[in-house]
Amino acid sequence: MKTLSQTKSRGWRRSWSFVAATTGATIGLGNLWKFSYLAGENGGAAFIIVYLVCILLVAMPVMIAEIVLGSRGRSNPITTVQDVSLEAGVSTWWQGIGWFGCLAGLLVLSYYSVIAGWSFAYISKLFAGDFDATSAQLAGDQFNAFLAEPQSMLEWQGLFLLIIFLTIAVGIRRGIGLLARLLMPLLFVTLIALAVYSSQVGDFQAAVNFMFTPDFSSLTRQGVLAALGHAFFTLSIGVGAMIAYGAYVPDKRSITSMVSVVVVADTLVSLLAGLAIFPLVFSLNIAPAMGPGLMFVAVPYGFGNMIYGNYYGALFFLMVSLAAITSGVALMEPATSWLSERLRWWRPVAALMVVAIVWLLGLASVFSFNEWKGISIAGMSIFSALDFFTANILLPAGGLLTAIFVGWKMRREVLRDELYVEGRVLFSLWYWVLRYIAAPGVLVVFLSSFLKEWV
Ligand code: PHE
Repeated sequence: MKTLSQTKSRGWRRSWSFVAATTGATIGLGNLWKFSYLAGENGGAAFIIVYLVCILLVAMPVMIAEIVLGSRGRSNPITTVQDVSLEAGVSTWWQGIGWFGCLAGLLVLSYYSVIAGWSFAYISKLFAGDFDATSAQLAGDQFNAFLAEPQSMLEWQGLFLLIIFLTIAVGIRRGIGLLARLLMPLLFVTLIALAVYSSQVGDFQAAVNFMFTPDFSSLTRQGVLAALGHAFFTLSIGVGAMIAYGAYVPDKRSITSMVSVVVVADTLVSLLAGLAIFPLVFSLNIAPAMGPGLMFVAVPYGFGNMIYGNYYGALFFLMVSLAAITSGVALMEPATSWLSERLRWWRPVAALMVVAIVWLLGLASVFSFNEWKGISIAGMSIFSALDFFTANILLPAGGLLTAIFVGWKMRREVLRDELYVEGRVLFSLWYWVLRYIAAPGVLVVFLSSFLKEWV
């Protein structure tokens, strides 16, 4: 009998293409914008250590599980989980993982597109020299003035979504490959240059202490939850994206090796972004815990005071925007591929539909910075509540379901069939960690953060 993956075959032929596309999906605003502000809010090194442990023991095994699932089903996340559950002889209700992922992805994209829009806007602001010889205070004031006015935020967010729509309408294989391949090396070089520059003009020692000398007393339960949530967010898991990308995994290649390259690249970019941002933060006395605006105040200040800084700064925000595009595509792919494969909608129409929904949902985030500033949900603005709810609850919950499904419901031989290139020990190690550490780990963090609130 033919296995599922033999009957439906599509995919990249080279590991490098798959790695480039997946790196594009994982490296994005999460690394460049969110990692540093979360580390800043949660006390630095202790948060970073917990985050790295979560990456290694929870998020990475789940990422491999998602790709294995995608590689088995070779379809959109919903159909994939449905087919694989039939093959495993378990309830097709498990396809809920796919539904859950598609919806969570759209919710994330609704606010992700707003931040990507900020980044687009900052390309033109820096290029125009708006921050030349600025002070930290002025950079902060300019950022606040930008947030106060919804019109231009809406336009930039719209432009971002239009670009995502065009890329995804063409299909991720063609649309993303080239972009990711050019962008990632450039991003590394730019970040290294920025980190070197900011180590010279900023307080590098304070930044290194903050990022690498842990003080665990500064880490709360909520901080641990945020570290776990961010591990999922940064590796793009829990929203079905890696199931969708797994459908294109090349045959006869080691999935674990490809994932390792992606995880290392993703982690390095986050740490480099931190090393670029924190020296400026500390030399300027900006509060590291200032929140989502951190990158948009510290970086323009840094470039604004550098010779030709307006060009370099524009280039930096161009990189951030391009990285956001390749991630935005990954957020949209699950829902788009379902509409086009299952309902047989023409792919551009499916993409347009999804983008329209995201744009509408995104209005709430845009207005939460100005017109609807007064509305609060559990003490947070609509934007922060969406960010908290998706990253800290939906993504880990989606990842948990995937870990249970792949680790406990799929047959071991089937998994071995997909991971046949890896050695026996490596396979068993992954399988064991997925079953006994990743899945229970998410539960423990959930229970310890929420029981305390509820009991
Ligand atoms: N990992 C992406 C980032 O760091 C965000 C993302 C989350 C993309 C979930 C796809 C799915 O920016």
